[in-house]
Amino acid sequence: MEPIIRTENVTRDFQSGRQTIRVLKGISINVEPRTLTVLRGRSGSGKTTLINLIGALDKPTNGRIFFDGKEITGMTAAKADELRRVNMGFVFQSVALIYIMSAYENVEFALRVAGFDPKTRKRRAEECLSLVGLGKRMHHRPHELSGGEQQRVAIARAIAHKPKVVFADEPTAELDTMMGLQVVKLFKSLVEKEGLTVVMTTHDPSMMEVADHVYTLEDGEIVDER
Ligand SMILES: Nc1ncnc2c1ncn2[C@@H]1O[C@H](COP(=O)(O)OP(=O)(O)O)[C@@H](O)[C@H]1O
Ligand SMILES: [Mg+2]
Repeated sequence: MEPIIRTENVTRDFQSGRQTIRVLKGISINVEPRTLTVLRGRSGSGKTTLINLIGALDKPTNGRIFFDGKEITGMTAAKADELRRVNMGFVFQSVALIYIMSAYENVEFALRVAGFDPKTRKRRAEECLSLVGLGKRMHHRPHELSGGEQQRVAIARAIAHKPKVVFADEPTAELDTMMGLQVVKLFKSLVEKEGLTVVMTTHDPSMMEVADHVYTLEDGEIVDER
């Protein structure tokens, strides 16, 4: 099967004063469609830098990146925006929900911004909140939900427009191990039920069991793959 994301010898340098720091040192990975792929590594190993590159939020210094068979490396900012809006979803460590809106309204609003019609918005928002196990709590506001439930609302919002890939940068970092594991298992079930591809970073080794594919990063290099 053709990977949905492929990187070829990707490097990323940052300028720090007069010094150039090579943060990613030639990364080549394949993300197969319909998998939960985990990028693991200690803090500072380069996980966020890498997920930002494959999520088209940043550009590599050298190397090439392909998404769904197309090279995205030289893409204009407008094309990258469009690619993200249509084909990608994002989940971050801090959930960033709108606090005056219910769970349902948060997801519905995202679909409105994405240009969906009212009927589709209602159906899809309800469907996604059910998928993440919040069918009965969708009219609660974020502060009435636990941290794990809030993260599930953020996941419902990220998948609502049916992206091909969801990128999640340390989505479990602010949750205890139990809730974190529930979030990872939820991603796995979305891979199975919705045919989604999920790329997630973590520094927590207890999250590995559920993953289909794990790349380990150390100091900007892939040191293990399984
Ligand atoms: N914009 C930047 N400018 C300079 N250094 C950066 C920048 N972003 C990240 N770094 C450095 O790159 C390394 C990897 O960072 P990061 O990708 O955030 O790691 P991780 O997500 O695994 O904790 C760190 O040493 C960090 O300080
Ligand atoms: Mg990080």
